[in-house]
Amino acid sequence: MKIAIIGTGYVGLTTAVVLSYLHHDVTAVDKDESKLSLLHEGKSPIHEPGIQNLLEEVWHTIRFTPNVAEAVPGAELILIAVGTPPKKNGEADTRHVEQAAREVAQVCLPNKHYTLVVKSTVPIGTNQRVAEVVENVFSERGIRGNISVASNPEFLQEGLALQGAFYPDRIVVGANSEEAVDTLRRLYKPILEQTFDPPSEFPRPPSYHLPPMMTTDPNSAEMIKYAANTFLALKISFINEIAGLCEEVAADVTEVARGIGLDARIGHRFLRAGLGWGGSCYPKDTAALLGVAAQSGYKMPITEAARTVNFRQRKRIVEKLREALSTLEGKTVGILGLAFKPNTDDIREAPALDIIRELLAEGAAVRAHDPIAITNARQALSQRDDTHDSRLHFTEDVYELPYDADALVLVTEWDLYHRLELRRLAKQMKTPILIDGRNVYSPEEARAAGFHYIGVGRT
Ligand code: UDX
Repeated sequence: MKIAIIGTGYVGLTTAVVLSYLHHDVTAVDKDESKLSLLHEGKSPIHEPGIQNLLEEVWHTIRFTPNVAEAVPGAELILIAVGTPPKKNGEADTRHVEQAAREVAQVCLPNKHYTLVVKSTVPIGTNQRVAEVVENVFSERGIRGNISVASNPEFLQEGLALQGAFYPDRIVVGANSEEAVDTLRRLYKPILEQTFDPPSEFPRPPSYHLPPMMTTDPNSAEMIKYAANTFLALKISFINEIAGLCEEVAADVTEVARGIGLDARIGHRFLRAGLGWGGSCYPKDTAALLGVAAQSGYKMPITEAARTVNFRQRKRIVEKLREALSTLEGKTVGILGLAFKPNTDDIREAPALDIIRELLAEGAAVRAHDPIAITNARQALSQRDDTHDSRLHFTEDVYELPYDADALVLVTEWDLYHRLELRRLAKQMKTPILIDGRNVYSPEEARAAGFHYIGVGRT
């Protein structure tokens, strides 16, 4: 199928590469010249396990262009995968989506049928708005256009995006037109029937079952995306709330999570207590959902509470440090991990950044390590004043982190941090305190290595 993809961000590029691997004829459009020049050299502008190799594999078939007119007219299906950044009040800004729809409609051929799919995460009602935008352009052009608009929300997880794209739990399609549903069924046929040869890096999981394609109306599809992310966010916040109480009553939250997770109705996933969620989705999508609700005057106390509990976790970690060190002024703290989660260099809404800012504000010096996110973090934190800059250092050698430090805080559970030589770290520290913000180590193991161990939800 001939496909145009508008936007080569996280979702757009992953989708483009995967659909191209599935033998669709893909042209991806992006206006960002720096991204395009990387893509033209066959280099991925995003860090995602496996994407570089897969991009090289499909390199001879996939096309990248800044020009919508090159990609859209001949396509059968157009996917919009542009960003929906938060506005000041938390609502998602759909300006780029509407602009993309406008540009698409300007170059569509009269009378040719197109399916226009919105993959970006958008507030409820956006598909309808996109259909109106398209119709307006057609009437301005004085042509009879023929576009079916459909919602096809994306559930990719950063760091696991390709695995999730080849082996999704489900595909959700929201459309009012049978034609659009059929086109999307043909698009995803190789995935729905698992007829493709798996890429060597992404073998088909033995227990994987064929995914259902659920079809519904566009508003419900848009709501599914927000509801799914909000539910996962509140599942994590729930266990974090329990973790706080565990600390008060001397229970161990990892045991509690194991115990409740064994109930099939609850399940064990997304019950890891720690520093809570960050990234580009949960913070933004929970705020956007509250924004949608506010417009209707509807209160969502559970979603609000999930956010409160989440951001409290970061403050709690700094409080624990303060308690352990008496004061933060003049102390040196090592930060293990800057990315919001492992296997990504994404530092958007990362707990590490808030923690570092607070430590600097309280007069501590910070030494930070991350396997791949240092450049992004340095940039994000560079808008600090000079005194802060002189107290913030990044190191690429994790074993330089503890030198003369008063405490270490494990913020991101990178694989590398599961295999640290704890004894070696502890020996170099002024005071060997380990605040384990992700419960990576067992208290016994850390103590045996000489650390004073403080985890989340365990005493
Ligand atoms: C999420 C959704 O999973 C995905 O379906 C959607 O398309 C986009 O948003 P992502 O933001 O990449 O994906 O991250 P995810 O793996 O879901 O984790 C989000 C955050 O929750 C991370 O900061 C992670 O550290 C945290 N987390 C996750 C926990 O604190 N505990 C857990 O048990 C699981």
